[in-house]
Amino acid sequence: MDGQRLIHDLERVLFTQEQIAHRVTQLARILTRRFGTLRPVLVCVLKGACFFYVDLCRSMDCAIDMDFISVSSYGLSARSTGVVRLNRDLDQPITGRHVILVEDIIDSGRTLEYLKALFAARKPASVTTVALLEKQGCHSARSAADLYGFPIGGEFVVGYGLDYANQYRNLPYLAVLKPERYTSGAADSTQERNPQHET
Ligand code: IMP
Ligand code: MG
Repeated sequence: MDGQRLIHDLERVLFTQEQIAHRVTQLARILTRRFGTLRPVLVCVLKGACFFYVDLCRSMDCAIDMDFISVSSYGLSARSTGVVRLNRDLDQPITGRHVILVEDIIDSGRTLEYLKALFAARKPASVTTVALLEKQGCHSARSAADLYGFPIGGEFVVGYGLDYANQYRNLPYLAVLKPERYTSGAADSTQERNPQHET
């Protein structure tokens, strides 16, 4: 898929690179103030949070540990199915540690609930959840993130790590995908043969 085709699939830009950078810096400041002396473990939920995670980590002005976890939801639709599977676990134990869980987007909130339950069982000192985007009205208060970058509506968003059928992640901004891209069943055929989709 060439660059022109990528842009043609987008309805509009939702947040520019500059707006994202500004908000990520603000979030990093809040977290540095809260956890600066506690050496928190920042956990990236692969793959969607990848750019948000690295930008957040390098804006934090304190000692941190970095770790990565990978979960997937079944299917390639633009709606999450709620079936969450652990693909890759953390490298290090988190018992007694302050954990900051970094997610791309909260939609139904089921992925976050799954991860919070998984982590709680390991007896960390605390778990704080940070999401770049939060879809309003789609999840219960219990599964909301503690901190988030931007509230959005129900639209399907891609770029800055977020994908549809594993495409569009490398766009440097956040954009709304044209609904016909995901209602026409236009997902990449290689993906359709492999419906285990990493978030
Ligand atoms: P949840 O479990 O329904 O909250 O869904 C969380 C996961 O679904 C996210 O980590 C994303 O991978 C994916 N997701 C939900 N909404 C969007 C979207 O608008 N764009 C891209 N991915 C999304
Ligand atoms: Mg995803």
